[in-house]
This record gives sequence, C-alpha cells and structure tokens, in this order.
Amino acid sequence: MKDFKQQEHVDVMSMTGFAEDVLKGLSAKPKYLLSKYFYDDEGSRIFQQIMQMPEYYLTDCEMEIFKTQKQDIFASFSNDGRPFDLIELGAGDGLKTIVLLEHFLTQQATFEYLPIDISEEALRNLTASIKTKLPSLSIKGMAGDYFQMMETINQYDHHKKILLFLGSNIGNFNEDEANDFLQKLRSVMQKNDLLFIGFDMKKDSEIILKAYNDSHGYTAQFNLNLLLRINRELGTDFRPDYFRHKEIYNAQTGTAKSYLFSLEKQAVIFPEFNESLFFEKGEPVFMEMSQKYDAEMINTLAEQAGFKVVRNFHDSRQYYVNSLWKLIK
Ligand code: TRP
Repeated sequence: MKDFKQQEHVDVMSMTGFAEDVLKGLSAKPKYLLSKYFYDDEGSRIFQQIMQMPEYYLTDCEMEIFKTQKQDIFASFSNDGRPFDLIELGAGDGLKTIVLLEHFLTQQATFEYLPIDISEEALRNLTASIKTKLPSLSIKGMAGDYFQMMETINQYDHHKKILLFLGSNIGNFNEDEANDFLQKLRSVMQKNDLLFIGFDMKKDSEIILKAYNDSHGYTAQFNLNLLLRINRELGTDFRPDYFRHKEIYNAQTGTAKSYLFSLEKQAVIFPEFNESLFFEKGEPVFMEMSQKYDAEMINTLAEQAGFKVVRNFHDSRQYYVNSLWKLIK
C-alpha cells in the first residue's frame, strides 16, 4: 500500500534498501524515517487495530458514505449497464469495499473486482474473506506495483475501469508526491475510466488529534514498532521507552504530522555500518503526514493532475469526502 513513499525524501534510483534508507533518514537534518517501512507483519496488525478504534473516525465515515449512498455511487459508476472493472489500489482488508461490491451484485452489474496490493499475504486474506462473503463475485487479486499492474490489466482487458483509492491514503503523500501519483494514474487510465478517492476533510483539531494521538496507544505502538523492526533487522539497540510518539496538526495548512521525539540525549549504534547516530534531548524524527482537505483543495488537486470532479459524496458530519473524478478530455 505504501509503495510510493520511497519518493518521499530520496532519489529512488540511489536507494539500495532498508538499512541505507534508515541510516540516510536518521543522519538527515531534520531526521525522518520512511513510512513505507511501517508495514511489516506486526505493523500491519497494529494498523488494523488503529482502523477499528472509535476515535479513528475515518473508517466510520467512509463506511457510512458507502452504506447510505451505495445506490448513488453505483449510478455514477455505471449508467449504461456495460461491464466494468473495479480496481482497488491498496485494498487492505476490504471491509468497506465489500459494502459496495455486495450492492453492485444485487443490481446485477457485470463487473470484476481487481484488488492490487504490494502485500501478497493481505491479498490472500482478502480473497479468502470475499470468497466466503460474496461467492458469486469475480475477484482477481494482483500483488505488485500499482502502475505495473494497471499496465498488465490494460493489455488484456478493455472494460471501463473504476479505480478506488480509499482511506485518505492520498493524504500520506505531500503535495508534489500526490500530484506525481495522480499524473501517473492518469497515464494508465483511458477516456471513460473513473477515479474514486477518499479524502479526510479539515475539521476541529481536537477530533483529528484524538484519532492520531489515541488513548489506547496504538498509533504510538505503530510508530515505535518501526524502531523495533530496525533493531530486529539491522541489529541496532533502539530503546522505545526513550522515544515518545506525538501527532501535531497545523490547522492552517490542514497537515497532521507524526513524530517520534527523543526523550534523552542518546546515541544508537549501527553495527552494520560501524556508525553511531546521535539524538538530542527533544529532537523529533518525522514519521508520516496525513493531509486534511477542503473542497477547494480537492478541486485544485484534480485540475492540476488533469482530472475533473464529477461528484462528491460526504458523510452526515461532513468529516470526509469520497470524490469521483474523470479525465479532462
Ligand atoms: N491514510 C490514513 C490516514 O492518514 C491511514 C494511515 C496511514 C494512518 N498511516 C497511518 C493512520 C498512521 C494512523 C497512523 O489516516
């Protein structure tokens, strides 16, 4: 799911792996780690827990939109009864998407569901759960890079394609990365294809911070797990109790950012490189951003990447928008 994060702060071509990325990020000023490394098995497990917390309103909002507006969503996806492909980028457990899939089946739509994910295990679980819940659905999971998989699909299949990019995952890119990502998507889309994106909207900062600085400590665990992963895989000696996770929200720009703050002045040894890294007391390590949007930002993002907003679907609290885009001719 986080495949594209590698463009975040480093030149993709010069990247040789986890160890180099970690060393590079932690030697940089200011320090950072790449969030694509969050998702090892343990990280993915904690991530599921985040999604299920009541404070993590994003999941509930998207679920509400799908449940209450599935008829309208279906009508906007397909108004001519022709077959289409539903391609989900980074499908995860697919729990929300199932609501739409089930409705489309009851409408006797002719469509195939093609979830793409970098994690084969996630795809296996998703396929198994869909096969039990919706046995009549035609599903074909594809493990790999979104763009490569899209090109593969384009080669053999000329149905109309509707791309789903849910969960406000677009917000984990900065503005330039989001723009690059959308331009790349546009380049693998055909004239009548559609893109359906989830956006978390700007709102009261208390609500946002409660979702990310959660009282259960899952988001803290999720971020600290990356230090434990670095210990496991690179033989370092990070002490998670010497760091504290904190989310900071800038209401002006709508950017939420998560950091790990070093609680002490400390050194961490990297045996693989025969090097030590130093942390000042209070020094932050930037982990990930979660951008929040307003209607104007969504329009601008669409236009800049060559899309036009067809329709926005929002939840009753107006916390969240699923925005349907088509290509500008
Ligand atoms: N895209 C979602 C969000 O920004 C999910 C997500 C990605 C997330 N990384 C996260 C949620 C880290 C909590 C913590 O909210």
